[in-house]
Amino acid sequence: MKALVLAGGSGTRLRPITHTSAKQLVPVANKPVLFYGLEAIAETGIQEVGLVVGDTQPEIEAAVGDGSAFGLQVTYLRQSAPLGLAHGVLIARDFLGDEDFVMYLGDNFIVGGIGALVDRFAARRPAAQILLTRVGDPTQFGVAELDGLGRVVGLEEKPARPKSDLALVGVYLFTPAVHAAVAELKPSWRGELEITDAIQWLIEAGMAVDSSVITGYWKDTGNVTDMLEVNRLVLEALEPRAEGLVDEASELVGRVVVEAGAVVERSRLVGPVIVGPGTRVADSYIGPFTSVGADCLVSGSELEYSIVMPGASLTGVGRIESSLIGHHVEVTASLNTPKAHRLVLGDHSKVRIGT
Ligand code: G1P
Repeated sequence: MKALVLAGGSGTRLRPITHTSAKQLVPVANKPVLFYGLEAIAETGIQEVGLVVGDTQPEIEAAVGDGSAFGLQVTYLRQSAPLGLAHGVLIARDFLGDEDFVMYLGDNFIVGGIGALVDRFAARRPAAQILLTRVGDPTQFGVAELDGLGRVVGLEEKPARPKSDLALVGVYLFTPAVHAAVAELKPSWRGELEITDAIQWLIEAGMAVDSSVITGYWKDTGNVTDMLEVNRLVLEALEPRAEGLVDEASELVGRVVVEAGAVVERSRLVGPVIVGPGTRVADSYIGPFTSVGADCLVSGSELEYSIVMPGASLTGVGRIESSLIGHHVEVTASLNTPKAHRLVLGDHSKVRIGT
């Protein structure tokens, strides 16, 4: 069995972060979301991974390399434009050959791995096996309709009037039967070849499509609240480790990770908190469910329930909560009067100012 990981796409829902960075590399507890997927695949024993990439290929390739760090062999498959998930299968045809495969969307996060799903698929080998989860706004997803026995009777991509609240999760298992379906597809209203339509084609052709419902799932929907929530979930399982320099005037409470090369001075960190390598925290408070990436500066500030990406600095800014701060962002205090907010914000930034 092989794996096909989809990491093309432009990530419009996560702007402005994705103006400059691949959405699959958004960090959860200081680790790119894509890495959790690759680890889940490696755990199943699958080794050969086709990684479908688009314009952000250089960045993804720099992060993943040849896959050996994950115990995988990664083959990069270049998608000329984001033409849909099924288009990803189409361009991977030679790579996949006639093997069964798991298709994993690189921006999806699934708690608890995929080992049990892969085993179940290998034992029963339906044409397709899909994963479903209940969501608040099904119009943002592919949506499944089940019959009274729990069998999938129909699928629709981002329906205006969803027939259920069961959304398709971005992990699919296929036999080579899917290739005939993909070859028949026409672009959808959004101009993409939809994997949802390919699975619908299999159902209409009378082939077996199995499903299971899971909890513990996350996908961005442009919603920072969701990102902070998945970050919280992963940080909950953090094993404390202080490998950086923590001075005597500082206090670490609970599950706190201070990576090697980080410095903590005159500060109080209440876990779960992770501080990346090369980061300096001085005269500050960092509260629960906060990830501070590598090479950041947090000085004279308070920070809680937030994600700070590498290279950012917060200096003398009082308290920041529930925030997502991108690479190399600088937030500083303005000491001059009149008291005013001075902002340099990229396109699609979102700022909420306490008044
Ligand atoms: C894609 C699929 C959709 C599925 C979702 C899960 O949506 O088309 O059916 O529910 O992934 O992440 P997209 O990310 O292309 O909007």
